Amino acid sequence: MPVLNNISQLATCPPDEPQQDAGLIENAALVWTDGLIRWAGPHTDIPAEYRDEPVIDCGQRLVIPGLVDCHTHLCFGGWRGDEFELRLRGASYQEIARAGGGIASTVAATRAASLDELRHKAESILDEMLVLGITTVECKSGYGLDEANELKQLEVYRLLNHSHAIDLVPTFLGAHIVPPEYEKHRDRYISLLCDTLIPEIARRSLAKFCDAFVETGAYSVAEAHHILGVAISHGLGVKVHADQLSDGGGAELAAELGAVSAEHLEYISDAGIEAMAASDTVAVSLPLASLYLAAPYMPARKMMDRGVAVAVATDFNPGSSPSYHLPLAMTLACVHQGMTPQEALKAATSVAAKAVSLDKQIGALLPGYAADLAIIDSPDLNHWLYHFRPNACTAVMKNGLWVYGGL
Ligand code: NIG
Ligand code: FE
Repeated sequence: MPVLNNISQLATCPPDEPQQDAGLIENAALVWTDGLIRWAGPHTDIPAEYRDEPVIDCGQRLVIPGLVDCHTHLCFGGWRGDEFELRLRGASYQEIARAGGGIASTVAATRAASLDELRHKAESILDEMLVLGITTVECKSGYGLDEANELKQLEVYRLLNHSHAIDLVPTFLGAHIVPPEYEKHRDRYISLLCDTLIPEIARRSLAKFCDAFVETGAYSVAEAHHILGVAISHGLGVKVHADQLSDGGGAELAAELGAVSAEHLEYISDAGIEAMAASDTVAVSLPLASLYLAAPYMPARKMMDRGVAVAVATDFNPGSSPSYHLPLAMTLACVHQGMTPQEALKAATSVAAKAVSLDKQIGALLPGYAADLAIIDSPDLNHWLYHFRPNACTAVMKNGLWVYGGL
């Protein structure tokens, strides 16, 4: 039963405490066995039963729970650097989409890519996420938008979940946009989602959640209500891409449906905030998308002050957020959204775990939780999120095993 000692600061991230309390312990120690945390506390309090166990010296570094990136579009063909330049020259994200670029162009590139190509590309991205301290990743489909290609993306996730140290949580996003070939028959595409794809994906357990993009140019509240209702009836949890480019009532829909999360919410209305506050739905903020689109940030401070639990994730995708640097997203949440470092850490650990319904298993370093952790070469949390470096993470443990670095 190994003991990790000489931890300068340990963040336990207790899920039952308020978001501002990351459960920080100075000069701490940690004990794990069989992949689970057994004990965490000040090193002076190590229980007698562990005092003769082998000790690993953490070298006065910060230890945090493995990070949870609870919103990504991990699997896609191609990239869209050309659109980056178009936006810098003044074109808007919506104008590019209306001209046939945007999500539709990634759908074409993803359809053209083989399963192996997509798998290798996503795998190398997961390798780079792991060394940043990320141990669980939610990943959406939504760039196939037909039966074969949505299943191809979900199959990539199934294979990677078996082969990679990072745990994947797959989400079906068939309701991302209406694919170009169904533009004049959107009802037929919605029937394909509801009558064929959702039942098959649920039956084969290829996804845990179903998501829908509620926005002008994507899906209306009524359409998303219908699609997500079918998903619920097949036993899937639901998520909503809501109020990203305009206030479209997506937050209220998520609260009404009992969604695990509403995501983006850059344009959430006061009524949406009140609906979220009265629900158990997590608000997932995606500050890297605001950075890249030069768009407003979700009003996270206001929402947390009203009692909404706010997670932070990367939204990694080839359009609005071509970065999977979750620690950068956390620093942006501090600087642009008024989060404290403790709130930002819980946003990417215990609250993010709740956004994927895993808050009893991961995201905290408490007895019974998975021994998923990252060692950060910083004396404390404030120093880590303030002194931004390409990567301050020096070692990562997943289920009690070192999967990067090690001591
Ligand atoms: O979350 N909003 C919809 N979907 C993605 C963007 C996808 C893309 O541009 O390819 C998002 O920002
Ligand atoms: Fe997204």
